[in-house]
Amino acid sequence: MKFSRLLLIILFFYKGLAAYAQNIENLKVEYQARPLGIESLSPRLSWEIRSPKRGTTQTFYQILVSDDEKNLAKNIGNVWDSKKIKSGQSRWVTYQGKPLESRKRYYWKVKIWDETGKMSAFSETSWWEMGLLKKEDWSAQWIGMKGTEGKPPKSVELEKTFTLKKRAVRARIYATGLGAYHLIFNGKKVGGDILAPGWTHYLKTMHYQTYEIDPENLTIGSNFITATLGNGWWSSGLGWEGGNHRYSEGPCRMFFQMEMEFYDGSRQTVISDQSWQVRTSPVTSNSIYHGETYDARLEYNKQWKSADLLDDLENATTLFGNDPKVNASEETAKFRMADISLRASPAPQIRVVRELQAVNITEPRKGRYVFDFGQNFSGFVRVSVEGKAGKEIVMKFGELLTDKGLVDQANLRSIRPTDKFILKGYGVEQWEPRFTYHGFRYVEVEGLPSKPDKNTIVAKVIHNPVAETGTFTSSDPLINKIYENIVWSQRSNMQSVPTDCPQRDERLGWMGDAQIFAPTASYIMDMNGFFTKWMRDITDSQHSSGYVYDINPKLLVGGPSKPAWGDAVVIVPWRMYQFYGDKEILRENYEAMKKWVDYMNNHPSTRQNGIYHFESGTDPVMKYGYGDWVPVERSPGKPIGGSYQYFSNRLLATIAGILGKPADATSYSALAEGVKKKYNELYFDKTSGQYEGKTQGANLIPLSLGLTSEADRNKVAGNVVQNVKDHNDHLTTGFISTAMLLPVLSESGHHDLAYKVATQKTYPGWGYMIEKGATSMWELWNSDTEKPEGMNSRNHFAYGSIGEWFYGYLAGIRPDDSGPGFSKFMIAPMPAQGLTHAEATYQTGYGKIRSAWAVAGKEFTLKVSVPFNTSATVIVPSAEGIVKETGKLLVSKGKLTKILVPGVRLLKSEPGRITLQVSGGDYEFVSE
Ligand code: BGC
Repeated sequence: MKFSRLLLIILFFYKGLAAYAQNIENLKVEYQARPLGIESLSPRLSWEIRSPKRGTTQTFYQILVSDDEKNLAKNIGNVWDSKKIKSGQSRWVTYQGKPLESRKRYYWKVKIWDETGKMSAFSETSWWEMGLLKKEDWSAQWIGMKGTEGKPPKSVELEKTFTLKKRAVRARIYATGLGAYHLIFNGKKVGGDILAPGWTHYLKTMHYQTYEIDPENLTIGSNFITATLGNGWWSSGLGWEGGNHRYSEGPCRMFFQMEMEFYDGSRQTVISDQSWQVRTSPVTSNSIYHGETYDARLEYNKQWKSADLLDDLENATTLFGNDPKVNASEETAKFRMADISLRASPAPQIRVVRELQAVNITEPRKGRYVFDFGQNFSGFVRVSVEGKAGKEIVMKFGELLTDKGLVDQANLRSIRPTDKFILKGYGVEQWEPRFTYHGFRYVEVEGLPSKPDKNTIVAKVIHNPVAETGTFTSSDPLINKIYENIVWSQRSNMQSVPTDCPQRDERLGWMGDAQIFAPTASYIMDMNGFFTKWMRDITDSQHSSGYVYDINPKLLVGGPSKPAWGDAVVIVPWRMYQFYGDKEILRENYEAMKKWVDYMNNHPSTRQNGIYHFESGTDPVMKYGYGDWVPVERSPGKPIGGSYQYFSNRLLATIAGILGKPADATSYSALAEGVKKKYNELYFDKTSGQYEGKTQGANLIPLSLGLTSEADRNKVAGNVVQNVKDHNDHLTTGFISTAMLLPVLSESGHHDLAYKVATQKTYPGWGYMIEKGATSMWELWNSDTEKPEGMNSRNHFAYGSIGEWFYGYLAGIRPDDSGPGFSKFMIAPMPAQGLTHAEATYQTGYGKIRSAWAVAGKEFTLKVSVPFNTSATVIVPSAEGIVKETGKLLVSKGKLTKILVPGVRLLKSEPGRITLQVSGGDYEFVSE
């Protein structure tokens, strides 16, 4: 006790006396800290600044990069010494050193100078490592086992033994597979990846993974590698039409290269080739949708043979099988493995992120146990049992229970996800599947040798493990529960692509869902790398005539994407720019965005009417696209084409400006204005301030997307408010306009109403779902009363778009487009009647933002953290124009006092609110 106090005192003095005021932390290269196997030849470097002094900003930086850690420790940047650069940029600084080489690890550090010219110490050393950058870096061959093709193909096991004569000091495995591979080296699983290499538009792009193998695990003498191959998204069969759409009927195959370096500098490489042995694996069936069967007795199968080379794709894809229009075209007909470009993924692969134990185990029927994990999520279970050889344990997964307490799979449509484990009969056996995942809360288990306990079946939650960046909590338990459900739906649906849902015969990268949820998603998790990857799936899939598809990577394509869905190609990169300040995602996708927008602008409907109309078929719900999908009250679908055409043109014009393309900026801006004019002529009634349809959605969409003129905005917002009141303070919105409703209410002076709508416990609303036991977001407002057999998921993130309002309005943390990536941002909390406290934190690329407020009597307290090198516009609600900061009177009667408070400037004083500009540091504002 005494000792630690002494230590604190010493530390305090040490800190006080230290020469450097600032610390540089959290070094990142591209999207991650210490990324292994990246491909960018000019990676972008980012760091965060910590300082005890308010308002610290960077004025200069120096970066050192070396390929030798010892050199760097001596401050020698033999690969790049940026020298002292005058710049405040601490994010996305482009590497400008010597050309980067395949395989190499580069060590780096950075120091900065602050606004007073004071220099920081160098940061700690960090690193990144390059992957294999050129085709010639690979000597591996595609191998597998001929004769295992099928619908789906069989799983195979590959094995290779090799001898080492010397002590290794470094080892890497570069690998990929089709559909998915699972690697074991000397008895240990390689990496934590699940279902690697993940899902891409395989016909164009595949990801390979880089694994660092601890040299300790290499033995002088015999070493062995075992690979098991399964179908993954490549050959499982996907889609709601019976799950028949597959890129290939196999066989499954692998591409593998292990590179070792020895103490004397010599090297050895082991590649996949015909020297490997192959046999069918104990995984007797496997598919993403249906589940996996593992017969442990087959581990003793001795039928090895030499691996086959599989350099060509013998079985043409059946991916777009029953869409003859598309099947005949494009890249699907003739295709060779060598045509696929092998790339490193900008996002981490799916992993097990947490384990869950059952909260309840029941036995509704003799010998059939139901495990309830208390949470709807994505993943699988591990079973641990002891029993006789041949004993079969059958596990059925679902989100719901029948009246009898058994697992109900009715809402999974054409699939019945089931895993089976057949025991080999020696000791305690543990098993978990490798080539499937399920969206579920319950598992029904039959065939257990004895009464189970909570350790018999343990659940594993999987998703792409990007960092969770946001936290949100408030004084209202219902709001907190809604938030928790959103987070779970996000986790559940980050499975290599942003999926609509994780459980039924779908699990596809639907564009509309992703674009509408992207802002909320980006508060909760670091989505930049994940969406960068998905944008490549979209652009790889894009049709040559410019349109994009509804689902990406494309599958069951069915022609051009629908309004509000296709526009994700513009909106998602834009959101990434707003949240992360990442210009590269704009640059990389600019041509694709342009093609999509041009497609709409040049569409016959636009040529004829000056505005884009999507029209196809006669189905009244789908005729004009998906409209404001699955609402309580349907809004006209036709105008949505034009509203998103406007929005995409507008965004594209802005993006063109950012990328330095003034001619494009001008022309898309003019096109946007033309659409806007036409839109209002066609759909707006100026007298009543109503858009065609008069529903909440009909008015919200044009209002939020910027089609309504300044003069008409109040009237239109007023109509939305009235409509909400007419529905007894309830929403009637669908996928698209739900995200818009609460922000519009809050901004038009009806924040209390917004809060009321958000917390309604009666139908329809988020509170209603929770009253009915939801642990994640439902797909339908009425999932409980809608028939189960159709489209009725309990784990869709689309209605989770309310999360943006929690962060942006209740807690008030919002991006400011004049400082993308939160280099500038807003903290404008809005207390609502009945809510006494709300708090959000958000980890940006500069550091953590915090906004925590509480109301007690007349006093409003707002605790704020602003990362260094950023500035925030803080709007403090204040009835009487009095604001104190950490005890000092800052504003009195709306005017700045003489007391100077470091880091704070008064920007505006208006009745009811005081606007401040606040620079890096921690603050506590108290207002009256
Ligand atoms: C999916 C959605 C998707 C929609 C398009 C559904 O089947 O689950 O989330 O956006 O179709 O209409």
